[in-house]
Amino acid sequence: MSIRSVRGLLTGLLLLGVVPGTMAASVKGNADAGKKIYLESCQNCHGPTGKGDSDMAAYLTPPPANLTAKATQTKTDVQLRKIILEGRPGTAMTGYGGAFEEGQLTDLIAYIRSLKS
Ligand code: HEC
Repeated sequence: MSIRSVRGLLTGLLLLGVVPGTMAASVKGNADAGKKIYLESCQNCHGPTGKGDSDMAAYLTPPPANLTAKATQTKTDVQLRKIILEGRPGTAMTGYGGAFEEGQLTDLIAYIRSLKS
């Protein structure tokens, strides 16, 4: 195989891999499905509508974030995903790595976006 055909093959593989990957990343999550996950896993700290106003809040330092606030809404999806997966050290926010499928994470983020005040 010549160098050129190897390069062509690699480019082809790259396109095959990258194009669907890019499409998947831009597919919007389902906020309704995300809400279900949120109510099960997040509302006990972040409150029923994400404002950080749960009963738990009084017992947590720092308190759970207000997800409707600018500080959260101006973060990118990538940043939110990272916080959800890894948690925030030194706070009650534990990482959910392994807890959710990719699609569930996308739905969860779509729901957080829908909370924008
Ligand atoms: C045990 C309580 C608790 C639970 C459950 C919890 N969180 Fe948190 N969360 C926190 C705390 C505390 C912080 C950190 C606030 C800070 O850094 O000031 C936080 C921070 C965050 C942030 C970062 C906000 C920002 O702008 O910095 C996001 C996003 C978030 N949580 C999403 C979620 C999601 C989604 C779930 C459910 C899958 C969840 N949390 C479950 C307590 C919780």
